[in-house]
This record gives sequence, structure tokens and C-alpha cells, in this order.
Amino acid sequence: MTNPYELAQLAANELRNLSGVDAYDVAVVLGSGWKEGAGALGEPFNVIPSASLSGFIAPTVAGHSGQIFSLDFAGKKVALVSGRVHLYEGHRADQVVHPVRTLIAAGASTVVLTNAAGGLDPSIGPGHVVVIRDQINLTGTSPMEGPAPPEGYGSRFVDLTDLYSADLRSAVHGAVTDLADGVYLGLRGPHYETPAEIEMARVMGATLVGMSTVLEAIAARHLNAGVLGLSLVSNYAAGVAGGALNHAEVLEAGQAAAASLGALLSRVLPVL
Ligand code: HPA
Repeated sequence: MTNPYELAQLAANELRNLSGVDAYDVAVVLGSGWKEGAGALGEPFNVIPSASLSGFIAPTVAGHSGQIFSLDFAGKKVALVSGRVHLYEGHRADQVVHPVRTLIAAGASTVVLTNAAGGLDPSIGPGHVVVIRDQINLTGTSPMEGPAPPEGYGSRFVDLTDLYSADLRSAVHGAVTDLADGVYLGLRGPHYETPAEIEMARVMGATLVGMSTVLEAIAARHLNAGVLGLSLVSNYAAGVAGGALNHAEVLEAGQAAAASLGALLSRVLPVL
């Protein structure tokens, strides 16, 4: 088996050939709701079904189609990656982070990870966007697990002290003044949490809970990309506001916020 880094190089070369983009500047991984919003960034000049690239797997979640959109925005070559795959679909950590490794291999030095998340702070309700300040990875796995990275790559014992780039966070706050900062706690899911688990998350310091992002952030940091994380609060986490949670509501919250997410991305991308 080729190692995950060679596989990402292979996929990156395929992507370059198919898109005509020699080197991307920014990769944006689109979570629930963000894909609809990203239409506001304008017409892509190229669209590739991601399953046509080596190592990419088709997502099984409704609302997550697998495509890579290439576009010019604010003088940058931007790749929008839709169709994230998750651990809860039965995939391994290296498969989950493969799109991020591929886009970095294709030149992207900044990775924007977007998602929909449950909110723990009663004052940051559904529809708000939170800039991820730090994360707690409770997935029980890591993209760095397994054989050591090959020659030329950083150590698997990667430092995460400044995982979410302070420079990128302050650039975003400069461009959009009303965004909160928070800590994202990543779990495997796909079940939603119990109120007791959310209480645990709160004690741990979490602002948001979700089932993605944490592994991609680690993989991107390992490859020296600047990492920015943006969460749409799609619902109050279990027990925060009473009432039950369901996946359809999470998707609906994304649709409802789409226009404002698109506007937000178009203000953020120029300052990255
Ligand atoms: N919990 C976990 N993941 C989520 C949630 C949640 O409440 N909302 C959206 N993704």
C-alpha cells in the first residue's frame, strides 16, 4: 500500500491536471450549510467529482456531495471541497483527512475547515458562526497514528500549541467584527450526545460539539498549513435548551443560514 502522503501527492497531481490549477492558495472544506452558502463566491471555473481522484471516497451522508470546485476569488486560487467523509461512516482517520492532505499537496497553504456544530453556550444560539480558537479531540484517533511519516515530512509528534492560527483568527475578527471565539470538541458520533456528555464537554471547556474537523485540523497543521475553523451553530447541544435533536433540523439550520454563510466567506477569504 502507498503511504497516505504519496497518495495525497498522486491525487494532487490528478487534481492539477483536471482543474488546470498549478497551485491553490486556499482550500475550504464545506460542512453542512456552508456548501449552499459558497455559491455566493461566484461561478467556479472547474468542478471535479472528488471520487474520480485517487484515495477519495464517496460520502454516504445526505447533504454532503463529493465535489471540488475551483474558483478565483479576491486574487486567490480557491478550492471548495464538498462531501466530507467522517469516522462515523466507518472510514479511517487517514481517509477522513485525505482531501485536506491532497489540497495542501496541491499548493494550499491555508485551510478553512467549516462545519455545523451543537452549541453549548446559551448566548450563542443557532445561526451564529463561531471562530474555532482551539479543539478537544475525543475521537480516540489521530491522523498521525500508524507508520511514521516518510522522509521530508514533519514528525508525527506534531505540536498543536497554535493549532488554529492566531494570525488567521485575528484577520477574521478584523474583517467580521461580531463573531465569537470558541473551543470545538470532536466526537465520533453519529449519535448525538446525551445531556450528561454535554455537561462533561462544558466542564472540559467546550463551546461547540461536532463530529468532524478535529482530525483535518491536525493533519493540516502537521503539513504546516495555516488552519482556520468556522462553526455554524446549527442547534443547541443536548440538554442546553430542552427538546430533542435530529439530523433534519441540523441540515435545515444550514439551509436557513446559507446566505449569511456565503456573505461571511466572501468577507473572510480576502483577508486570509
Ligand atoms: N452534536 C454533535 N454534532 C453536531 C451537533 C450536535 O449537537 N449539531 C451538529 N453537529
